[in-house]
Amino acid sequence: MRLVKLTVIFVFSLFLAVACTQTESGANPSPEAPAAPAAPAAPAAPETPSEVALGETKFKQYCTKCHKVDGTGGKVEIRGRTLNAENLTSEKMKKDPDSEYIETLENGVIDEGMPSFKGELSEDEMKAVVKYIREKLQNQ
Ligand code: HEC
Repeated sequence: MRLVKLTVIFVFSLFLAVACTQTESGANPSPEAPAAPAAPAAPAAPETPSEVALGETKFKQYCTKCHKVDGTGGKVEIRGRTLNAENLTSEKMKKDPDSEYIETLENGVIDEGMPSFKGELSEDEMKAVVKYIREKLQNQ
């Protein structure tokens, strides 16, 4: 029994010794460190009900007349002009990063009839609208 204990202690110290040497000599010649794997889609931040609720209010106030309540958009007649509002629930729009949405909201796609919301929505409100689209319209 004693022998077993001694062996365990010996092996353990050996292990410690090796570990220490490696750290001391800075022996971490890892230029071969594997390239970080493509980052998986960041997990959605936990839902903040008030933010989603704010987004819903703003979406219904500013976006539904063109993009419809369910976000699917399509042809819409606005002031005698026929617009083709983007389907916000499409696979393409699901993949579009938040930054693209914010940019669209700030600058619009004026030629195509998508207005700019720079003066209308604050940055936080724009983010809330995007969060609402992500969690409630694209998540079905
Ligand atoms: C007056 C009608 C109208 C309103 C109001 C409107 N949109 Fe649009 N939106 C459009 C049209 C038309 C397009 C398609 C533009 C194009 O063809 O590139 C579009 C495109 C978009 C796109 C995709 C842009 C791209 O090409 O990547 C997003 C995102 C978007 N709208 C979000 C919103 C949100 C959010 C709101 C509310 C804050 C909103 N829109 C309000 C008409 C509208």
